[in-house]
Amino acid sequence: MQSVRVTDEMWQHLLSLREGLIGPRVLSPDADVSCLPLYAPIARRSGQFVLAQVGQSLDGRIATPMGDAQDVSGSDGIAHLHRCRALVDAVVVGVGTVVADDPSLSVRAAPGRSPVRVVVDCNGRMPHRAKMLNDGGMPVIVIQADDVARRNGGHELISLPRQADGSLSPRDILAALTERDLTSVLVEGGANTISRFIDAQLVDRLHVSVSPIIIGSGPAGIRLTPIDRLSQARRPEVQVYNIGTDIVFDCNLRVEAQRAAALPDCEDILMADTA
Ligand SMILES: NC(=O)c1ccc[n+]([C@@H]2O[C@H](COP(=O)([O-])OP(=O)(O)OC[C@H]3O[C@@H](n4cnc5c(N)ncnc54)[C@H](OP(=O)(O)O)[C@@H]3O)[C@@H](O)[C@H]2O)c1
Repeated sequence: MQSVRVTDEMWQHLLSLREGLIGPRVLSPDADVSCLPLYAPIARRSGQFVLAQVGQSLDGRIATPMGDAQDVSGSDGIAHLHRCRALVDAVVVGVGTVVADDPSLSVRAAPGRSPVRVVVDCNGRMPHRAKMLNDGGMPVIVIQADDVARRNGGHELISLPRQADGSLSPRDILAALTERDLTSVLVEGGANTISRFIDAQLVDRLHVSVSPIIIGSGPAGIRLTPIDRLSQARRPEVQVYNIGTDIVFDCNLRVEAQRAAALPDCEDILMADTA
């Protein structure tokens, strides 16, 4: 596990990478580069990039059963989330998160620009009074199904066709954002929304930020399509970072997907041999 420190110099370097306007800065010889492996893949501009992030307890919960999710992450976990927001073009949440938490999705715990805010609201239940619609901050895009009545007020509306199961295709969502030059995206929650992007094989990196608390009950951070056998479990390449109050598991889902596509049956065979 690598300890990560984010100095002002390195953060400015990462913001330069994110802007893509100038070449990377020349770093001082004693620069602490420990944060680069965690953040540079997000900051670099190289086509579409999807980061998903979950802030959870030691027992994998993101809230109490009553929905209290305020302090799951420690202060460094929150700073990490805000850095991730500052490095992307857009942050995506499901309408369930807006209803539960009324977030502003802005960058406050780190210097940097706030991303465009995107709410996936298939059935048009975004509250008119939502903070992000009224705070004068970065633009808000609401994504609805095209059979739902259009609502005006404080946001751009994107209408997409439903899939056969009534939901919206995460691929269509990303395509609509790419059309608006929003190519690097942080899918911030909740579990429902993140899981749809992971199930659709669209997430490049998944950051699971674990805080040393035990909640004991309540919703989990991810709920993927159920599997029967552990041989079908996701086995991403993982790097682990100590960021201070929290530990971040940086899961490379893109490499895992490529490996799985190349060797579809290998793990089944291995599991059978060792049983
Ligand atoms: N700890 C963390 O990192 C973190 C981060 C964010 C949120 N949270 C917590 O997560 C909880 C909310 O999560 P959640 O899983 O219940 O809800 P959610 O993911 O925020 O929102 C889910 C809803 O968004 C809509 N939606 C999202 N993607 C869609 C798609 N592809 N197609 C159609 N509809 C789509 C659906 O709305 P309809 O039901 O209207 O169809 C769906 O029910 C809150 O308690 C919040 O505090 C935790």
